[in-house]
Amino acid sequence: MQIESGVSLKPYNTFGLPAVAQTLVRVAGDADVRRVVDHPTLGRAPKFVLGGGSNIILTRDMPQVVLKVEVRGMRLVEERAVAWIVEAGAGENWHEFVAWTLAQGWPGLENLALIPGTVGAAPVQNIGAYGVELQDRFDSLDAVDLLTGRSVVLGAEICAFGYRDSVFKHSLHHRSVITRVRFRLPKPWRPVVGYLDLERKRAETGIDAPSAQQVFDWVCAIRRAKLPDPAVIGNAGSFFKNPIVSPEQCRDIIGRDPEVVYYPLPDGSIKLAAGWLIDACGWKGKTVGQAGVYEKQALVLVNRGDAIGSEVMTLARAIQESVYGRFGIRLEPEPVVV
Ligand code: EPU
Repeated sequence: MQIESGVSLKPYNTFGLPAVAQTLVRVAGDADVRRVVDHPTLGRAPKFVLGGGSNIILTRDMPQVVLKVEVRGMRLVEERAVAWIVEAGAGENWHEFVAWTLAQGWPGLENLALIPGTVGAAPVQNIGAYGVELQDRFDSLDAVDLLTGRSVVLGAEICAFGYRDSVFKHSLHHRSVITRVRFRLPKPWRPVVGYLDLERKRAETGIDAPSAQQVFDWVCAIRRAKLPDPAVIGNAGSFFKNPIVSPEQCRDIIGRDPEVVYYPLPDGSIKLAAGWLIDACGWKGKTVGQAGVYEKQALVLVNRGDAIGSEVMTLARAIQESVYGRFGIRLEPEPVVV
């Protein structure tokens, strides 16, 4: 176990925001987490679990002990008649894991291609894109409890997945370290191409029954066309969740803005496209200091160079106020603000 002090977190968050961790420990497996828990001083100190840093906004230095999860390894656990069970270490890069499963002939994660971050961070916010959410392919995960040092296996029920949400954002927030995640990839594989952008690709190419690799390529192309690559322009993906409203609220907004983009949900409520609401308020391309609203997708805030966390949050609050002023809807940030 390696204990480092005064570590810059700038390279470890995809927004590229400056912050310093007083203490940082790299964790390569369950035993490393236990060593931290049993450590005479680190044991009792508050902890912050850092994955790929693709879903955090750092607004200050970190007095907590930052645990940087670097658990590696990818393997087929078991092939069943109805599914492949595949496992990856929490520190593996998510997109590389998706590409690896496809190359091995185990499809099912292709709609989730190119999502930045690590495998261990994926269940925390129940990542989702183009009609598939992590919870649809989840089997179980291994975690270590930060109070007791005990390793546990958690199933979907305990993880309590919701829209960009799970128990790891609530009662287990920084209480446990996810070390490995297992996925259940159903057989026979069937493409999920109902999402509008994918339907469009199908129509454009005339390919009616795409392979998993084809869907993977389409998703990569769609994402590259409208989302900034964090390696080039710092960002944390969608900055706000798509708000869920009642049918009455939605009717009221349609009455005033007939073009509003919305999706009826199975439970009768309605999900509004936050990107559309922000765009309608004229935010595309606007900046506060070095923080800006991405030109091609108003839901994504970007780092125009040397942004600091407070500039990002000032911009975020101004967006929230203007959307509230015009539509009466409170947007909720999707990344964890520290
Ligand atoms: N729109 C605009 N202007 C904008 C942005 C969007 O009019 O500036 C409209 C689009 O034309 C579209 C609608 O709003 O009709 C929705 O946009 P899009 O389909 O791009 O999806 P989204 O709601 O912006 C969500 C997820 C993404 C995920 C995509 C694809 C959330 C908060 N975001 O975005 O997830 O990749 O769907 O499934 O749920 C992420 O969580 O970081 C993320 C990128």
